[in-house]
Amino acid sequence: MSTEKRIPIEVRNLTFAYERDEKSGTETTTTAVPPALSGIDLTIESGTVVVLIGPSGSGKTTLCKCLTGIIPKLIKGNLDGEVLIFGREIAQDSSVEISMLSTQIGFVMQEPDHQIVMTTVEDDIAFGPENSMMPSPEIRALVDHLIADMGLEAKAETNPNNLSGGEKQRLTVAGVLAMEPEIMVFDEPVSSLDAVGKAHFVEIVKELKAAGKTIIIVEHDYEVFDFADRWILIKDGRVAADAIPSAIPKTLLERELWR
Ligand SMILES: Nc1ncnc2c1ncn2[C@@H]1O[C@H](COP(=O)(O)OP(=O)(O)O)[C@@H](O)[C@H]1O
Ligand SMILES: [Mg+2]
Repeated sequence: MSTEKRIPIEVRNLTFAYERDEKSGTETTTTAVPPALSGIDLTIESGTVVVLIGPSGSGKTTLCKCLTGIIPKLIKGNLDGEVLIFGREIAQDSSVEISMLSTQIGFVMQEPDHQIVMTTVEDDIAFGPENSMMPSPEIRALVDHLIADMGLEAKAETNPNNLSGGEKQRLTVAGVLAMEPEIMVFDEPVSSLDAVGKAHFVEIVKELKAAGKTIIIVEHDYEVFDFADRWILIKDGRVAADAIPSAIPKTLLERELWR
């Protein structure tokens, strides 16, 4: 391997537009819709915590999906520009598969149902490590630890379908932590959690930062992440502000977020 600098995430002039399929009779025409992201440039250094802020529909989730390869590997559209994960271009290179990225970049999606795959909580947490061939005793210890850490002890053998929204969120966070990827992307991970659950998540992020992980979080309650290295304001699919939290005027955020 080269001794090249290992920058976790570099986004270069990224523009993405979803496609809309319109059916009339037997004909399906695909029309382009206005871009959800336009000309995004971002470099995220190792060990930093970045909070993505922006009104609903501004493109935060779309950006997360581009960083994790879901766009354009699973969700197609018109994509221009580049996304590099540890120096490797993933958006234009069709030989890069999502499964290859899972040990480098973990993703807690806004909709937990989309990523729960197994029929018990413990099996679901174990799913990733099992696929990456971790030895069974290690998996057992890791799963037990994460179940306890996420307060899911009483639910270890429960079918995830029967969990509350907050429990599902804690389960998906555990699933990503189990893979110990260098980069973790959390898209509104605490939206269904109570104050205690949110505070616990903030502590987890602090621990991950201390461990040198690179973290991207989409969260409306961004003020709890005042220790972040950067707050990035996304507006109409563009970066409208990008600075350390203390350098971003509160009035700007309040105006943009209608709070
Ligand atoms: N699967 C999709 N197909 C078509 N348009 C979409 C899809 N997902 C999101 N969009 C549109 O892309 C824009 C950005 O959405 P999104 O990234 O979900 O914003 P945010 O996460 O900031 O609320 C919105 O206009 C939204 O309607
Ligand atoms: Mg979103």
